[in-house]
Amino acid sequence: MQIEESQPFDTPYAWAGGEASVRALVDRFYDLMDLEPAYKELRAVHGPDLTSARDKLFWFLSGWLGGPQEYTERFGHPRLRMRHMPFAIGILERDQWLACMAQAMQETGLDPALHARLEKSFFQTADWMRNQNV
Ligand code: HEM
Repeated sequence: MQIEESQPFDTPYAWAGGEASVRALVDRFYDLMDLEPAYKELRAVHGPDLTSARDKLFWFLSGWLGGPQEYTERFGHPRLRMRHMPFAIGILERDQWLACMAQAMQETGLDPALHARLEKSFFQTADWMRNQNV
């Protein structure tokens, strides 16, 4: 993800607040997925234990936001669409993922300007992950 030169931070990662903030965002995202009935179908796509999903999303997002490239160092190229093929992802799952992430961004106090930008990028990525037409 690129940011424009007018921004006061070198990377979206720094803008988000660095490691502790990105970790808090991912933790809140999966806590909400576990707790909120509104994300029931999204939760059901996942296995019972979210520990590895938490770590992987944290490593991935850190790199994607311009921070440490830990995901790529551990697992190679993300190939996210291919890695999501085992899961049935339609419009409902996509929209729950996006709503869950928006709630997590809001609750962890991300700068609203960064939130707005990330929301657009997340939409593109999540829609590209869709492998069902409904
Ligand atoms: C569109 C709706 C989405 C659904 C239903 C979904 C679902 C899942 C599931 C079930 C897993 C496996 C978790 C596990 O290993 O226990 C996973 C992994 C992952 N997801 Fe998603 N996901 C979605 C969108 C996204 C988006 C938008 C991103 C990134 C911005 C993302 C990033 C990841 C990453 C990095 C992994 C770990 C991949 C690996 O190394 O195996 N996902 N996702």
